[in-house]
Amino acid sequence: MTGSNGPKAADPAGARKRYGFDARMAHPARVYDYWLGGKDNFAADRIAGEETIAAYPAIRASARANRAFLARTVRYLAAEEGVRQFLDIGTGLPTASNTHEVAQSVAPASRIVYVDNDPLVLSHARALLTSNPEGVTAYLDADARDTATILEQAAETLDFTQPIAIMLLAILHYIPDLTEAQRIVAQLIDAVPSGSYVAISHAASDISAPEMAEMIRRMNEHLAEGNHVGRPREVVAEFFAGLDVLEPGVVKVTEWRPESETEAAGPTSLWGGVGRKG
Ligand SMILES: C[S@@+](CC[C@H](N)C(=O)[O-])C[C@H]1O[C@@H](n2cnc3c(N)ncnc32)[C@H](O)[C@@H]1O
Repeated sequence: MTGSNGPKAADPAGARKRYGFDARMAHPARVYDYWLGGKDNFAADRIAGEETIAAYPAIRASARANRAFLARTVRYLAAEEGVRQFLDIGTGLPTASNTHEVAQSVAPASRIVYVDNDPLVLSHARALLTSNPEGVTAYLDADARDTATILEQAAETLDFTQPIAIMLLAILHYIPDLTEAQRIVAQLIDAVPSGSYVAISHAASDISAPEMAEMIRRMNEHLAEGNHVGRPREVVAEFFAGLDVLEPGVVKVTEWRPESETEAAGPTSLWGGVGRKG
């Protein structure tokens, strides 16, 4: 783990082998960075970015809407529900309003563990480790599928006897095997105590369906693993099985407690929701 707890890799050789730092192939974190207008991407990511934008022009606005969903969910959980610990899996490259910045703006002593399997995210992890001195941020280089390892290493920073918010934003659609994705979510929920939360956003197969299908097809032509999938709302809702789903339910991310009517009406291709473990 990187940060106040020092660098650590759950399975660095495996992660490199799976993803390798290959600038010739597009990677999810870097294409997403391109959609968001960032600079941490290579030519292959920009080509994938442009081809996917051509298929579904609203993808850039949708990526921004997802970041806004992240900020609203973290702020809500910290300010209204008093959550002080966050496990953010599939962190992405540092950008505006990272989880620790939002959480610590509400409660400076918040503790955050970031997890991603992309070597470039690891190399930029320092920007995620600018914790308020009262709190802590840590970075774990691991694959979401190595859930047990993540839980074991996150326990060095987070207290698993106290509520934790598990953030799984725009990552589960890179786990194409639905059973595997459901296993990851269930294993994480099992590990946290009552009063914990899970926030999920997920690419939709049933919003702007033809454009999204073409966007995902083009994305998969460029990704090393070709592993991007969209899922319909009812399948995304199933990830929250056994949890109390907070109002307004599993909805377009723009419609989850929006700050304005304009925000609610914005384009998105992602379903999102927050569940509470009773
Ligand atoms: C689209 S970005 C989302 C970033 C951030 N969560 C957000 O919503 O703004 C997806 C991130 O998930 C990461 N990712 C994809 N598959 C993963 C896996 N199996 N294990 C860990 N991270 C993964 C990618 O490297 C990328 O950084």
